[in-house]
Formats: sequence, structure tokens, C-alpha cells
Amino acid sequence: MRITVLGSSAGGGFPQWNCNCRNCAGLRAGTLRAKARTQSSIFVQPSDHADGVLFNASPDILDQIRSRPALQPGRAIRDTAIAGVVLMDGQIDHATGLFMLRERTSPLPLWCTDPVEEDLRQGNPVLRVLGHYCGVARQRIALDGPAFEVPGVADLKFRAMPLASKAAPYSPHREQSVPGDNIGMTITDRRSGRSAFYAPGLGSIDPAVFDAMAGADAVLVDGTFWTDDEMIALGLSTKTARDIGHLPQSGAGGMVEWLGRLPARTRKLLIHINNTNPILDEDSPQRAALAAAGIEVCEDGMTIDL
Ligand code: MLT
Ligand code: MN
Ligand code: ZN
Repeated sequence: MRITVLGSSAGGGFPQWNCNCRNCAGLRAGTLRAKARTQSSIFVQPSDHADGVLFNASPDILDQIRSRPALQPGRAIRDTAIAGVVLMDGQIDHATGLFMLRERTSPLPLWCTDPVEEDLRQGNPVLRVLGHYCGVARQRIALDGPAFEVPGVADLKFRAMPLASKAAPYSPHREQSVPGDNIGMTITDRRSGRSAFYAPGLGSIDPAVFDAMAGADAVLVDGTFWTDDEMIALGLSTKTARDIGHLPQSGAGGMVEWLGRLPARTRKLLIHINNTNPILDEDSPQRAALAAAGIEVCEDGMTIDL
């Protein structure tokens, strides 16, 4: 299978429109060695010119599609290589791009959990709005259920698991998460048996999550924040990373420690990186620490072949 990173940033993108943190200001000024990034999404195909599955529909989706020709094969007057969309949560950075797919000529095949569907019908009613355009053919993602397939992408199978993270602020369960607000996905190629575990929003790692990570050939996991108090220290928020459902990379029990327990052969990648995170600075000691630990930092346009 081929995974293409369409957007490697967390909500807001990098640089963020109104942000003048060290990273955002440094990138704009050209004084920081770093790459701009769009908001969180991946595209997964059985092979490099087959139709595939879009994981999350980012607010930057139109630019992401324009810059990746594989998503527009041009076989008909209206065409797309996106056979279906799978949502990992109902947050703005993962769901707002659905509005941009309204010109489809048939209802959009969309996989999401029940709580995400509810949030996208009520708090941010994109699924109701799309009913006035192409419509949505919603498919239910069962938690810990059997693997599912996306028609048109027969060689891949998908298995979801609930994750501890956070629903969007417009969700009635923002402060009291319910299973299915956020999911992780194991994506397996039936032909080779090789698999990836994708979890862009991951607040804590329990034994079931660790087993899923350890069973995968590659993990693409929450790279939002380096430190738990990153936003507080910058004066940008009163909430910790963990408060908003993101396990920080550094410190005891952090993501770097967890990734260090995976088998050496597992490819380890961070994705959904917030613009404040020092790992975006390619000359930072934090980035060097990741390199020493064998952990990669996703970039837009990167492909991972498994
Ligand atoms: C998150 O991952 O915590 C959210 O997407 C943040 C946001 O975009 O507001
Ligand atoms: Mn997010
Ligand atoms: Zn910033």
C-alpha cells in the first residue's frame, strides 16, 4: 500500500494565520529551517495509481488535491481517486473539508462513528448541509468491530479502535468523552499482510492501543505537542496537551518513551504537529532527539510504501 501524507499539521496549519510564535514567525521571516504544513489528512491506496481512501477532510483539501496529481486521475469529465472518506474524529481540522467535496456527482461515501456522525449533524452540521448538494452515503464505523472495506479499494481493510482523546468544542460530550469521539485505525494490505496504525489524536496509550501499535509495520501517531504545557508556556492557552486530548512527546510517559518500546523494525512517524512544536525546527535539539530515537516527523507530500 501507499500512504501519502496530504497534511501533517494539526489544526491551524503551519504557519497559522494569526500566530507569531517562534516557529510561525521564523518560517515567515525565512530564519527558521522548517517546512510549511497543511492540516491533518492522509490518502491511502493499494498501489500508487489506484483509487484510495481519504482519511479526514482538512480545510486545506482543495490545495492538497491540486498538489497531488494521484488524487485526480482525469478519466472522465468529473472524476476523483477518492473512493471514500474515513473520519478519525469530528473536529474542524478533520471534517470541514467535507464542504469542499459538494460537487461530487454521487453521494459521498463516508465512514464515521456514531458520536462523530451526531456532532456532524448537530454541532457542525456539515452532513445536513451536504444533503443539499451531493448527499452523504454514511457508513457506520463499529468500535472494535470486524474490519471493513471501502468499495473500489478492495485490497485494503480497515479496523477501528476507540482512543482516549477529545471531541470538538461543539460536541455535547467535549468534557465527557464517549467511545468513538476519536478513533485509531489499523490499515492492512490483504496481499502482503503489511499494516499501518494511524492515530492523529491520541491522548493516552492503554494496552489495547499499544498492542495495535506493536502489531503494525508503521505507526503514524499524534505529534501535536512536545511538552504538556507548551501552549501555557507560550501564553496561548490555559490548557495542557493532555487536557485537550494529545499525549505530549517528551517526559515520563510521553510519546517518545512509548515509541521506544516498539520493535526496532517498526517505522515510527509523528503526524498532526502543532505549529508551536519545536520539532518543526529542523535544527532544534528536540528534532535531533527524535532522529536519535529513530522517530520521523511527517511532512506534506511524504509517501510511505508498505
Ligand atoms: C485538536 O486536534 O485538538 C483540534 O483539531 C484542535 C483544533 O483544530 O481546534
Ligand atoms: Mn486536530
Ligand atoms: Zn505558531
